[in-house]
Order: sequence, then C-alpha cells, then structure tokens
Amino acid sequence: MDTLNQVLLYPAFQLGADLEGWLAAGGGQGLIAALAEPAAIIPTLREADLRGMGGAGFPTWRKWQAAAEAPGAGKFVVCNGNEDEPGTFKDRHLLRWTPHAVVEGGLIAALATGAAHLVLYINPHQAAAVAEMRRAVAQWQASPWLARMERALGHPLDIAVVETSGRYIGGEETAVISWLDGHFPFPRRKPPFPAQSGVGRAPTLINNTETLAHVPHILRHGAAWYRALGIGAAAGTKLYSLSGDVMRPGLYELPMGTSLQELIFVHGGGMLEGRDFKAVFTGGPSNTLLTKRDLDVALDFDSVRARRSRLGTGAMIVISEGTSIIRKVAEYIAFFAAGSCGQCPSCKAGTFQLARLLDRIDGGRGTAEDLQALESLCRILPGSGRCGLIDGAVTVVESSLHTFPDEYAATR
Ligand SMILES: Cc1cc2nc3c(=O)[nH]c(=O)nc-3n(C[C@H](O)[C@H](O)[C@H](O)COP(=O)(O)O)c2cc1C
Repeated sequence: MDTLNQVLLYPAFQLGADLEGWLAAGGGQGLIAALAEPAAIIPTLREADLRGMGGAGFPTWRKWQAAAEAPGAGKFVVCNGNEDEPGTFKDRHLLRWTPHAVVEGGLIAALATGAAHLVLYINPHQAAAVAEMRRAVAQWQASPWLARMERALGHPLDIAVVETSGRYIGGEETAVISWLDGHFPFPRRKPPFPAQSGVGRAPTLINNTETLAHVPHILRHGAAWYRALGIGAAAGTKLYSLSGDVMRPGLYELPMGTSLQELIFVHGGGMLEGRDFKAVFTGGPSNTLLTKRDLDVALDFDSVRARRSRLGTGAMIVISEGTSIIRKVAEYIAFFAAGSCGQCPSCKAGTFQLARLLDRIDGGRGTAEDLQALESLCRILPGSGRCGLIDGAVTVVESSLHTFPDEYAATR
C-alpha cells in the first residue's frame, strides 16, 4: 500500500531530507527563478494551470493573487499536511520523502504573497513526516537561502513545523486557522476567506502539500513543460492513491488525465484474482461513485466533474462485485460522524443518524420507513453545516441510492 510506484516529477523521492542532495539534483532552481522575477510567479502558475490538490481543484494562482493583494502585514502561508481521510495517502509521502520540494514550494508562495510566516501544518499521526520536515526546515534555516528570502521580502520570515490536532476536521481550511490561533479546530463560515482574514486575522494562503510540491518544478522548468506532462487539456501530474480490491494498491504519480481504466488495470495490475470490478469511491469517500461505464473517464478535475463526480484528492477506492456498497458507505459515514466537530447540530446528529440507518439497512433490519428517513435526510441536510463535511457525507449516500438502488431494494 505504501509504496511509490511511478515517478515523473519526483525523482527527489530518493533524496530524503538532505538539502545538499536536493540542491545537487536541481532543487533550488525554481526558487532562484522566483527570486529573479517575483512578479512572474503568479502568472507562471496561471499559465501552468496548477490546481489545488487538496480536493477542490481550485486554480492555485487565484488564491495566491488574493493573498498577495490582500492588505495587511504579517501574512501567513500554510502548507496543509493534515491528510486524514480514508483512502488518501499522498501528502505523507511528499512530506516524508521529498520535504525540500514542499519547503521550496512554500518559500516561493511566501515570496509571491509577501508572507512573514511559513507554517508546515502536519498530522502528528505521521511521525516520520513530522521528523523529516523538522530536519528539512532546520537545514533551510541554517542555509544562506533564508537571508536571500528575507532580503527579497524586506522583512524576516519565520518558518515553523506545527503538528495538527490529528483530527479529520482539522484539515478544513478555517479549522486550520482556528488551530493555529490556539483554539479547537472548529471550522467557521466563509467569507471572510483565509486570504482576507486568516491566522491572527492576517491574510493567509492555505494550500495542500501536493499543490506546493509541484511549484518548484513549475518555476524551474516553466509552465509549458508542466502543462505538457498532462494528457489532453489536463496539466501536469497527479498523485493517485489507489486502494481496495486491486492487485497492486499504492501511490501512483501519473500524468493528470490518465484514465481510470489505465490506473486500475495497467498500473494497479487489475482486480484481485477472481474479483470483478463493481465501482470506485472516487476522490475519497465523500464523492459520487463511478461505475463500469465510467472506466474510460480521464482522471482530471474537469473530466471527472463532467461525470457528476469529483477528482477530489485523487483517491480511488476500488470495490469488487459481491461487496455491499451499503456496508462501505456505512463505514465511511461512521467515520464522518466520529469526525464531525459537533458545532453544527445538523452535521453531528445528521451523520450519526445516517450511519445508524445505513447500519440497520445493511444488516437486513431496515424498514421502508428507514429508507424514507435516509432519503429525506439527503434532501434536508446539504448546506446546513459551516463546512463541507455534511455535504460530502450526503453526496456519497445519495450516490449509492441512485447508483445501486437494487441494494436498497430489500428495504422497499
Ligand atoms: C472536512 C474537511 C477536511 C479537509 N481536510 C483537508 C486536508 O487534510 N488536507 C488538505 O489539503 N485539504 C483539506 N481540506 C480542504 C481544505 O479546506 C482546503 O480547501 C485545501 O487545503 C486547499 O488547498 P488547495 O487549494 O491546494 O487544494 C478539507 C476540507 C474539508 C471540508
């Protein structure tokens, strides 16, 4: 499960936490280009069409521009390394094995936005990632790079590794801010967006670890080079976390836009012996299920969206015939119920109730009323929380109801 199988952008995975090795292999070149022409950083990311790898696929340059233009001193750049959702296991590898790409990406972000703080926000359950990042940051701090950065910025730059609460909800961006402000990681409604008011009310740029790890490569080799790594209109590469009933589960870095068929049946070695493909929980367990007729879908943000699903973090959890979809969904909803922060009663009670109903239905104890209650919760819960947790939970339940109605038939 935990092996890196294919490498385009990250030969640096072999380098570990040695800054010298990173620089000798061409690391630092992206930062040199950024320091030479800071005003070109954001346009280059725009041309490269780098998208947020934390789930939403939001154009990275827009966020950077908003943080750069926001008035206010003491700005923050935060690298989100909380990664706590079932099926996603990519950021921990970047942090553990190519920490300097992440730090360099964060430094370039600090330069583009004029930040005074760079925070590497890392899940303490990934102890090796925390340790390697601490080591990597100490090496950058002891190098001449920090003084070069501070000269370019015109003010000091503080770089810190901060352990997250280790909770799923702690990865949501406003919860990140709350934790860094010293509180429980409670999400809040937006606006204000982090770029307007974030840590200590200062403008704050929050990016996923993978998003930042791509940046030095883009600045080093150029936007055209990066775009060309993708297939068709899709740009760059993507880390896909492949798990479930496949021969070779693992982490695959492939061109953005690789088909689901190719990921599962070529790189993943196909289904386990004697198993037939049934469905994929796409982008993690909070999205719409893809089925056999979607095997040809290109795994990029826009193509997956066109199938009414989402690429999300790039997690693909493969399910075989004979596996109860309701059981899997019940497990994921139980995870969301446990992870709900409890601020919004509709989310805390809603996820709990969804999990209970699914459990009963899957156990053969469900009634027609239970099914009606499930369907009605799917109608009333969306949009009722401060953050996206409840919406994600409902999406996967609704998708299972639409895509596999037969599994619920015994209850009707
Ligand atoms: C419940 C919840 C948990 C989240 N957890 C993470 C996480 O662990 N890591 C992450 O990068 N983004 C997570 N996100 C998304 C962040 O809010 C944010 O969109 C992301 O860090 C932005 O980075 P990007 O633009 O580079 O994708 C989560 C969102 C929600 C609603």
